[in-house]
Amino acid sequence: MSALSGRTILVIIGGGIAAYKALELIRELKKRGAAVNAILTRAGAQFVTPLSVSALAGSPVHSELFDLTHEAEMGHIEFSRAADLLVVVPATADLMAKMAAGIADDLATTTLLATDKPVMIAPAMNVRMWLHAATQANLATLKARGIAVIGPDEGDMACGEFGPGRLAEPQVIADAVEAALQPTGQPLKGKKVVITAGPTHEPIDPVRYIANRSSGRQGYALAEAARDLGARTILVSGPVSLAVPPGIEVLPVETAEEMLEATQAELPCDIAVFAAAVADWRPADRHEHKLKKDGKATPPEIKFSANPDILRTVGHLKEGRPPLVVGFAAETDKVIDNARTKLAAKGADVIVANDVSASTGIMGGNHNRVQLVTAGGVEDWPELDKREVAMRLMRHFAQMLAEKGSS
Ligand code: C5P
Repeated sequence: MSALSGRTILVIIGGGIAAYKALELIRELKKRGAAVNAILTRAGAQFVTPLSVSALAGSPVHSELFDLTHEAEMGHIEFSRAADLLVVVPATADLMAKMAAGIADDLATTTLLATDKPVMIAPAMNVRMWLHAATQANLATLKARGIAVIGPDEGDMACGEFGPGRLAEPQVIADAVEAALQPTGQPLKGKKVVITAGPTHEPIDPVRYIANRSSGRQGYALAEAARDLGARTILVSGPVSLAVPPGIEVLPVETAEEMLEATQAELPCDIAVFAAAVADWRPADRHEHKLKKDGKATPPEIKFSANPDILRTVGHLKEGRPPLVVGFAAETDKVIDNARTKLAAKGADVIVANDVSASTGIMGGNHNRVQLVTAGGVEDWPELDKREVAMRLMRHFAQMLAEKGSS
């Protein structure tokens, strides 16, 4: 059975002479069992008609962002939700530039910015436009974000020139779409993965607490990746404003002590990932009643005591230590040196290091650039969406676990 059967592909047709080949692609995807939705950009409609697109797709074609009936139902979000994959054919220099810059000024670009589904582009343009430094820089940006690029091919072009810039053949694009949707395999099937995520809240009194800016996104994305790779996944989560992901057992906690207790109760497990931003200190006295300002000339002093280090505790367990223990090191300077120190001090097998200086926008943002520090050395990864980072990390951990098992 084709990996496309029962899947929905959103084909976004850009404006270029190669747009007619998008029609062949739609036909091919349908032949392989996919449902197709299509967005025709205004420029694309100069080359193919909405009627031919909708006739082949078997569904109405859309082109305007403010199509009233659709936007009432948040059309651009719906489009991406309904799709398993988005493919831009042809991806013009203009569309690539807009995608790279995050511009959302029509239905196609808004949908591309709003999606969390895999995106593929099949570029086609004049050879000099393709080779222009601006296009190449945009290409590098898109690739680094995990967007798959099919082609372009080299050959005679409609503009009479020769070189790279021809749209890849529709069959080849369909093959790539199909390959991308092959079931991912489940290297963590039968394994148990425990992940800590989010901040901790350390109470001062019943209404006040000390916290930090962690959003929990990276930890939640890791849990989703572990689930998708087949693991029974336990997420020990500090207070965050993220939805509980389906198929994951979420254990909500507030303080570091609760997080330690909940984590220990889930051992043994195969992989433990400590992605939480645990408060290092907590107010030593937890006041039973709200501290009042009335009548006091000086503000109260808060004394702190040290929180347990959950990673260090689990990393150094004599008995029941998970075979793979992963820590994170969010640093603002000497990132690798600090990560190496942590690897040893905390008894971890891997430290995922990242630079969280304010200028990187990583803390609380959607992207992350990580370096993997193990006893064997340092691996540098490009900047990627946090979900993409999560999937790559979990695959990597699955591999490390398998290697440990076989050694
Ligand atoms: O020492 P630092 O907080 O930078 O170490 C970060 C790593 O240690 C992270 O993996 C974090 O989840 C873990 N950690 C922990 N318990 C603490 C402090 C940090 O598990 N109390």
